[in-house]
Amino acid sequence: MEGQRITVFDTTLRDGEQSPGCSMNVHEKVRLGRQLDRLGVDVIEAGFPIASDGDFAAVQAIAAAVPRPIIAGLARASRHDIERAAKALEFAIRPRIHVFLATSDIHLQHKLRISRQQCLEQAANSVRLARTLCDDVEFSPEDATRTDPEFLFQVLAAVIEAGATTLNIPDTVGYTVPAEFGDLIRNIRERVPGIEKTTISAHCHNDLGLAVANSLAAIANGARQVECTINGIGERAGNASLEEIVMALRVRADKYAYYTAIATEQLYPTSQMLEEITEIPVQPNKAIIGRNAFAHEAGIHQDGMLKNRLTYEIMTPQSVGVPDSKLVLGKHSGRHALSLRCEQLGYRFERRDLDEVYRRFVVLADEIKHVHDHHLLELIREAYGETHRIPPGRVAAELAEAVAAGAEEPRRMFPGGVPAEFSAVNLSSGAAAEHHSEQEDYLWGV
Ligand code: KIV
Ligand code: ZN
Repeated sequence: MEGQRITVFDTTLRDGEQSPGCSMNVHEKVRLGRQLDRLGVDVIEAGFPIASDGDFAAVQAIAAAVPRPIIAGLARASRHDIERAAKALEFAIRPRIHVFLATSDIHLQHKLRISRQQCLEQAANSVRLARTLCDDVEFSPEDATRTDPEFLFQVLAAVIEAGATTLNIPDTVGYTVPAEFGDLIRNIRERVPGIEKTTISAHCHNDLGLAVANSLAAIANGARQVECTINGIGERAGNASLEEIVMALRVRADKYAYYTAIATEQLYPTSQMLEEITEIPVQPNKAIIGRNAFAHEAGIHQDGMLKNRLTYEIMTPQSVGVPDSKLVLGKHSGRHALSLRCEQLGYRFERRDLDEVYRRFVVLADEIKHVHDHHLLELIREAYGETHRIPPGRVAAELAEAVAAGAEEPRRMFPGGVPAEFSAVNLSSGAAAEHHSEQEDYLWGV
């Protein structure tokens, strides 16, 4: 693997859980913690032990159940919080105490009501205390992106001196933009004394939809840890989405010479598990793991996909653990996909007859959102009865040929019970493609 390694710090179980409706019980947290381990995250922020007995128990339970990754517990910059976090992490093999204190004037004046000097001292003293309890201490200056940079550098220098090993720079309110955040990280790297002994981390919220872009800008300017969550859940508009950061680094390795230890084929199963536990549905068009991320309805796209997947997909669905791309029959679909689905259902048409099926299909698709198999079968029978049925023996022979040609899962050519969507596996080499050679190329897509 070329490039530099990026540490993936997953905070689904802490910041993610702070998102409305996403709270999880101990059992659910341990289940997800085990899945995060399979996914290969480097750090699991398991909770905020002072927040509740349940959070304390969850951090303890995850520390016991998931020995490989670093397990982090969050603490405010106060003795009680830090000691509670240390206690919850007592049996972790690789514990980390994550201390945070706001540094922006807005937070100092209105929320904490302390001076900059008090903030500086409290941050350093807290990190010093945490270091007496744990060798691995992360410090976060909350609201860093709205903090006077000179004061931020001072605080960072003080906590490094006090023993912080990771400096996390939170864009707590999702306010920054990529160029600005990149500059901030570069300035921290260049101007904070002792920074070379620590790892710089980015923690971005998504209020302007820029959390992933900001995280990537941070990496490009020297951050070597990113904090993120599965499905991008988190406070308000969420945190940077783990799956998007990881796949951006992987798919655009030509632009980003970095890599992670994430087993990317576990992304979709992890996302599904989180969706199941929280009962918060993922938006269909969510990048990487949304229901539509590998679905194609437009005829021109379907035609391209059936000829070569590279036309409309920049990564394979399998690379992120999605079983396969889907072609969806709707009013934008074209003859190529329609003829394929007809074949999957056991009917084959020459061009003129297919045109008639297509004409009827478009009328129907204009009226209803999803064309299901039973609609299509009805439509075929109304138009042609059983005259275009493929003899059963022939279907079997074609399946056998597909197997001999190395088809991965030829049964998917005739999936059962999936009405309006069907897999595109191995179909471009089928009989529909032969049809296609007789067709006018462009029309085939519509
Ligand atoms: O967004 C934030 O500032 C945080 C800190 C606790 C790291 O979540
Ligand atoms: Zn946060």
